[in-house]
Amino acid sequence: MPANDYKREDPPAKQAAPIFLVGFMGAGKTTVGKALAQRLGWEFWDLDEKIKAGAGKSVATIFAELGESAFRAYETEAIKACRGQIESVIALGGGAYVSAGNRSIIRAIGSAIWLDCPLDTCLARIGRETGRPLLGSEAEMSALLEKRRSAYGEADHIVDAGVGEPDEIAARIIEALRF
Ligand code: S3P
Repeated sequence: MPANDYKREDPPAKQAAPIFLVGFMGAGKTTVGKALAQRLGWEFWDLDEKIKAGAGKSVATIFAELGESAFRAYETEAIKACRGQIESVIALGGGAYVSAGNRSIIRAIGSAIWLDCPLDTCLARIGRETGRPLLGSEAEMSALLEKRRSAYGEADHIVDAGVGEPDEIAARIIEALRF
């Protein structure tokens, strides 16, 4: 096939490929993701919202009725469904990038940015919000973050999400991606 022919299974050009935001609960994946999508003129998607729409149940209800492993299976299916999507910023749930399988699917689809944010800032942002089944004591959250840190560190880029307004963090992501 001539080099410039289009092959259906070709991945989208890197510049149009989805950007996945990964990181701990409260790191700002949704707020920064919306700001980033606005700056790029792209669509914003929240993976948990896609799961909710597909399952017809909230994340908390899926955890309560079916358990965490069923939620993780929904999560993997929702990530796979992002294949072929272009010009999209996708905020993942805090546990989605922990699975090596999910990471390799994401790597084949687009870029991953770790919004690295200190635990106290994450906890302050979460505040009294409910609906996060894995929300525990400060010590439990600290242990969970430490357990996940090396997985998050496999993202293509790491951006400090502990300082700055969402739009400023979005600008730093664009800089990191050299758009
Ligand atoms: C989870 C984080 C949540 C949600 C689910 C599990 C996690 O998303 O996907 O409750 O394992 O850290 P946020 O990171 O948006 O809170």
